[in-house]
Amino acid sequence: MTEILVAYATKMGATKEIAEAIGARIRSASHEVVVLDAADVHSVEPCKAVVLGSALYAGGWRREAVKLLARNEKLLHSRPLRLFHSGPLGADITAQQAPRKVREIAARLGAEEPFTFGGRLTPQTAVGFFAKKMALGPAAGDFRDWDEIDRWAYTIAQRLVAAR
Ligand SMILES: Cc1cc2nc3c(=O)[nH]c(=O)nc-3n(C[C@H](O)[C@H](O)[C@H](O)COP(=O)(O)O)c2cc1C
Repeated sequence: MTEILVAYATKMGATKEIAEAIGARIRSASHEVVVLDAADVHSVEPCKAVVLGSALYAGGWRREAVKLLARNEKLLHSRPLRLFHSGPLGADITAQQAPRKVREIAARLGAEEPFTFGGRLTPQTAVGFFAKKMALGPAAGDFRDWDEIDRWAYTIAQRLVAAR
């Protein structure tokens, strides 16, 4: 059991890039890390710790991230778990509440509520009618703060080093 799993659920790619940055930072602290689409993760059994993040859509998480969490709840009792979501667009990024099911599972596991990172919505990356329309309006832009993402991942990496 050596790997740290960083799993993500995305529609337009922004959350995948956040997960990859988190994975790279944890890897730089000499951890073995795999970064995977949540839809491709059946079990967290081989992993010693899990980071899971989802894009936010209409206040919800992507189904594959919720599924991963629900399906693996038992195994996650004995593994460190950190959650994040990405979504808010604009200059003022405020913490977003996770959907109820995610909050309930996190509470049962004693995990912190998901950390909120800003999102990205641009005409070049938008997928779907509404997204393409929104990407032409005032909400458009890339509001991911890479320094903040790096700091968050660094904290996780340090805690995992301490737990070795
Ligand atoms: C139709 C639509 C609904 C959205 N709903 C939310 C929302 O409820 N809360 C939020 O913070 N961001 C919301 N967003 C912003 C996205 O979460 C943001 O663009 C995010 O970075 C997309 O991640 P992805 O590229 O990984 O799919 C929404 C975007 C679209 C296009």
